[in-house]
Amino acid sequence: MNKILVTGGCGFIGSNFIRSLLKSHDNVSIINLDKLTYAGNPENLKNIEAEYKGRYTFVKGDICNKEMVEYVFFNFKPDTVINFAAESHVDRSIHDPNIFIQTNVLGTAVLLSTAKKMWSGDFESKRFLQVSTDEVYGTLPEDDKSVKFTERTPLQPHSPYSASKTAADCLVQSYFDTFNFPTLITRCSNNYGPYQFPEKLIPLIIHNALNNKNLPVYGDGKQIRDWLFVDDHNDAILTVIKKGKTGEAYNIGGNNEIQNIEIIKMILKHLNKPESLITYVKDRLGHDRRYAIDASKIKNELGWEPKFKFSDKIKYTIDWYLSNGDWVKNVISGDYQKWIDKNYK
Ligand code: NAD
Ligand code: DAU
Repeated sequence: MNKILVTGGCGFIGSNFIRSLLKSHDNVSIINLDKLTYAGNPENLKNIEAEYKGRYTFVKGDICNKEMVEYVFFNFKPDTVINFAAESHVDRSIHDPNIFIQTNVLGTAVLLSTAKKMWSGDFESKRFLQVSTDEVYGTLPEDDKSVKFTERTPLQPHSPYSASKTAADCLVQSYFDTFNFPTLITRCSNNYGPYQFPEKLIPLIIHNALNNKNLPVYGDGKQIRDWLFVDDHNDAILTVIKKGKTGEAYNIGGNNEIQNIEIIKMILKHLNKPESLITYVKDRLGHDRRYAIDASKIKNELGWEPKFKFSDKIKYTIDWYLSNGDWVKNVISGDYQKWIDKNYK
């Protein structure tokens, strides 16, 4: 692992990944290929190019563009690919599924075929890691907490977002099965932390609460997610790159199931804002009720476990948003406002 092609590195998880990897690994250089969609923000990696001279390169480009991906491979010669690039918001996939198929499925196909071609059959010490999601498994019953997603749970996605991620996973797996191409898949639960775009639950609630705006709760608000701090996710990805067995998928989770409404109340309490801001709205279509990860495979086989406690890191995250009002202001463009109006009208 010396030269890493990170795709989607200007998004939430990718930018946290790049910052912490450059800091912790002197022997690594990174090229970040990002299309800079509404969710990709170069501000997330401000000063990184100057701070890590010669070890970090940014290329603005689309993973669906074969010539662009070939150019990056030809000039940079990565031995590792970590594919974070995706359309990642479930609600947007309900309004407009096509871009999800484009980026998440076709983009992954372009990365796979280009890597296979450019590595020309020499897969020794090469790795292609697909950053996937627990949403590929569908939903779990609320009344039996002993049932969790394992890597053997059948893939049963419900939203266009999770269907596109599932299609990509199948394609990635097919490259291992057919070509012995060195694939790895990680399937993580919900992340939270700094630099998350304020369309996702936690940053949206923090932003609205700070501005005394209504807090939209879908349906009864009792849906359950398994929350994990973003640095824990990225640490797990690194562990899988270093020690994972090619051809395998690894679940990553926080063992931290919480109802949406409980999280919203925690945020209000920390910000000293009234619960009267809570507003129940129409439920999300096809809304998955519960996600919970059984992460025993990555723990037993690779020795990874989450390090951070939710009670500490949720406060840290809220405080990060409080002290980074300018960042929030910058990412909330006119387009973002149009999206909010459309989704919550
Ligand atoms: P994000 O939406 O914050 O960032 C996505 C990044 O990909 C942006 O920088 C965007 O500009 C870039 N991008 C989008 N389309 C592109 C294209 N065609 N070519 C190049 N770049 C493109 O997403 P995130 O929350 O950081 O998620 C990153 C990955 O992790 C995704 O694959 C997502 O499915 C997965 N994941 C996310 C979570 C979560 O809770 N956020 C949990 C599990 C897995
Ligand atoms: O589980 C991993 C997935 O987590 C990732 O693959 C996705 O990229 C990521 O976006 C996230 O998906 P969710 O749909 O779980 O996250 P979101 O923040 O959109 O919603 C979390 C829960 O909160 C979900 O039950 C819907 C609910 N919700 C969300 C928003 C934005 C609300 O009740 N109100 C809201 O305004």
